Amino acid sequence: MSETEQNWDKMALAYEDFTSGTDSYSCQIEWPCIQKMLPPLSGKTVIDLGCGTGRFTFWLEKEGARRMVGADIADNMLSIAQKKAQETGSRAVFMKADISAPFTDEKFDVLFSSTVTHYIQDLNALFRLIHGMLNQEGVAVLSVMHPVYTAQYPIRHDSVFPTDDEWTIRYLDRRERAYIQPWIEYNDSIDNFLSRSYHHTFSDYGNAIIGAGLEIVEMQEPLPPEEWKEKNPERYDGFIETPSFLILKLKKPA
Ligand SMILES: C[S@@+](CC[C@H](N)C(=O)[O-])C[C@H]1O[C@@H](n2cnc3c(N)ncnc32)[C@H](O)[C@@H]1O
Repeated sequence: MSETEQNWDKMALAYEDFTSGTDSYSCQIEWPCIQKMLPPLSGKTVIDLGCGTGRFTFWLEKEGARRMVGADIADNMLSIAQKKAQETGSRAVFMKADISAPFTDEKFDVLFSSTVTHYIQDLNALFRLIHGMLNQEGVAVLSVMHPVYTAQYPIRHDSVFPTDDEWTIRYLDRRERAYIQPWIEYNDSIDNFLSRSYHHTFSDYGNAIIGAGLEIVEMQEPLPPEEWKEKNPERYDGFIETPSFLILKLKKPA
């Protein structure tokens, strides 16, 4: 079992807790932007890569997808997604898969993914896999952790927790990162432990997309809601300084 899989198994309940509120960055900033970028989903087949507990999978299904598949490496994340599907009568299908290598022959009209690509070391292979999973003229909408955000993740060093000073932007440093997830650090019900991931720059994304033969249709860097300026200036300013999301809309040419 990979370390990423073990970690997400451990974090599953805490992640579900952290992300289920309507005040999250995902609800307030990420999803409204994604909704504007999605192609019409009515009657389409859709896959959610790294679906986790399925929150985007269910939102996408509500947009009218005919077949909705969620794929993730972590069993505990998938169990939460499956339980929610049963409770709500969702027809989404969830499968265990490591998306760093091809895992199905099925092709989809639309491929979606949120905040997963920084767990994948080889971006070129990932975008080739995305190309291979899309039907001709299929569309991918990928919300990735913004490269400015991942640039501040502390550089990995031997299993010692990084200090706060190590959260500093090292944009052109491609070394592996290791850190305590900020939302775990503030959750008393789970022990601190290191998560590992990667930092990919803008050109890493651009070159992997072009190299895979995909077209960039649109890119967005969503802003926080205007009302945060008054109601929550610290949260607003923090997001402006180190944005969390870069959202890419790609197309597989005919
Ligand atoms: C930050 S969570 C995002 C989950 C979901 N997309 C969401 O936004 O709520 C990252 C997810 O990526 C999954 N993941 C990481 N590496 C993966 C891999 N190689 N293959 C499949 N899933 C992976 C983790 O298990 C976890 O569920």
